Amino acid sequence: MEMKDRIQEKFQTLFGEAGDLYASAGRINLIGEHTDYNGGYVFPGAIDCGIIAAVKPNGTAKVKAFSLDYDEYVEFGLKEEDKPEQQWARYIFGVCRETVKRGGKVEGFNTVFAGDVPLGAGLSSSAALESTFAFALNDIFDNHIDKFDLAKIGQSTEHNYCGVKCGIMDQFASVFGKKGSLIRLNCKTLEYKYFPFNPEGYRVVLIDSCVKHELASSAYNKRRASCENAAAAIRKNHPEVEFLSDAKRVWLDEVRSEIPEEDFLRAEYVIGEVQRVLDVCDALERGDYETVGEMMYQTHFGLSKLYEVSCEELDFLNKLARKMDVTGSRVMGGGFGGCTINLVKDELYDTFVNAAVEQFTAKFGHAPKVYPVVISDGARKL
Ligand code: GLA
Repeated sequence: MEMKDRIQEKFQTLFGEAGDLYASAGRINLIGEHTDYNGGYVFPGAIDCGIIAAVKPNGTAKVKAFSLDYDEYVEFGLKEEDKPEQQWARYIFGVCRETVKRGGKVEGFNTVFAGDVPLGAGLSSSAALESTFAFALNDIFDNHIDKFDLAKIGQSTEHNYCGVKCGIMDQFASVFGKKGSLIRLNCKTLEYKYFPFNPEGYRVVLIDSCVKHELASSAYNKRRASCENAAAAIRKNHPEVEFLSDAKRVWLDEVRSEIPEEDFLRAEYVIGEVQRVLDVCDALERGDYETVGEMMYQTHFGLSKLYEVSCEELDFLNKLARKMDVTGSRVMGGGFGGCTINLVKDELYDTFVNAAVEQFTAKFGHAPKVYPVVISDGARKL
C-alpha cells in the first residue's frame, strides 16, 4: 500500500474520519555547505522522498499525533510547558509554538504521519517534518504566513526545541523546492533563483555511509561559533562585515594571529565555499560539468581538512570516486557521517556504484546505501 493510503487508513481508525494530506521533502545540496549560517550562498533542491501527514482540527486544545514509523501515539498541549518527551513529537510541538510566536493561530488537531527520508543520512528528514507541519498548520488555520516565515518556523524549531543552531538551507529547500530545479539562495539577503537542473549525460547519486551524523551534538554548534568568532575579529578592522561571507580572504589573513588556528581554518573553508557556489552556478549555465565536479572535490577537501566534518568512511568514498574518474564527489550536508553526493557520467554510473558498494563493504564491514537523486517539489497539499 502507498504511504499516503497507510496514513489515511490509520487516521480513519484512530479518529473516525479522513484527514487532509500535506507533504514536504528532504533535500540535497549540490554545493555551498556550512555557508548558510555565515550569510553565504547555498544551492539545494528538494528530493523525491519526504514526509506525508494527514491533519484535521479536533476542536480541543490538544494535539493528538501518531507516528506510523515509530508506531507511537503522543498527546500534548499547546503551551510552552507542554513540551513532549519524544523527539519526533518535539518537532511538531516546536512548529506549533513557533507559529504562535509569529502571531499565527494554532488549535488542537489530530495527525498521523510517516516518512521515507533515510534518517541520519544528512538529507534533512527533520526539516521535511517541520516544513510539512508548518505548511499544514498555516493552511488549516488560515494564517497567511509567507513561505520564508514557514521555513523560519522550522529553523527556529531546531534552535529553540532541538538544540541545533542550524542555518536556513534545509527548511528553505523543503518549503521552496521545485521539481527539476535547484535553488541558489543568498542566505543574507534571502534572494533566490531557480536553476533548471538536468545535467545531460550525467546522473547524481548519493552514497550513504550509514554512519550516523550527530548534528545535534555540539560539533555543529561549535563550527558555527568558530565562524562567528572569526567574523567578529575581522569586523574590528572592517565594520561592514556582518557575516563571515562578507569578508575578503586577505581580511581573514590580517587576524590570523588573533584567533585560534582552528577558527582560522574553519573561516578559510567558508570564504572559499561561498565563491565556489557562484562558480558552480556559472559553470552550470555554460553546461560545464567538469568545472562543477572539480568544485565539488574542492569542497570535499575543505570539509575534510579545514572544516573537519568528514570521517574515514566518507573520505574513502570520495577518494574512490576520484580514482574512478567520477566527475564530482563530496560529503553532503552537515557532515559527521551521512552521504557523499556524486556527479557521475551515465556510462560510468553502474561501474562506480557497484565498486563503491563492494569496496566500502569489504573495508568497513557494512554495505552503504545508494540513492539516485530525483529533484522534486517541496511543501504542498496533496
Ligand atoms: C545542516 C544544517 C544546515 C546547513 C548544513 C551544512 O544540514 O541544518 O542549516 O548548515 O548542515 O551546510
